Amino acid sequence: MSLDDLYRETIMDHNQSPRNRRSLEHPTKTVGLLNPTCGDQLKLDLRVQDGMVVDVGFTGHGCSISMASASMLTEAIKGKSTDEALALARHFKAFLTGTPSPVNLGDLEALQGVSQFPSRVKCATLAHNALEKALSQD
Ligand code: FES
Repeated sequence: MSLDDLYRETIMDHNQSPRNRRSLEHPTKTVGLLNPTCGDQLKLDLRVQDGMVVDVGFTGHGCSISMASASMLTEAIKGKSTDEALALARHFKAFLTGTPSPVNLGDLEALQGVSQFPSRVKCATLAHNALEKALSQD
């Protein structure tokens, strides 16, 4: 399977029209993360109110998988509780190691093929790691 096979329509769509690609004006949580293997960077802004993710945005630069994954993640967690958002991140990571997810991962399921490329798993989980870090802040 070539890497080109990973670039399915959904991934292309998120690359061409990334959702929530912006900084928030009044985030309650902000985390910047670096993928040390390539130097790509991602900043995730969250606005959390009453335990709910009411808004989320991301900025940064990275490969198409990391940017598509960030776009997909923001779409998946907006409007969810922080517990649901964290569970989604956890299930997505397990999904990339071959464990079926008990929750609907939405467009993130399009990244399933990444599991065959271990070096790309870090790309696909960069935003998820940022989310976990952001939600572990007080
Ligand atoms: Fe840098 Fe994918 S190559 S995040």
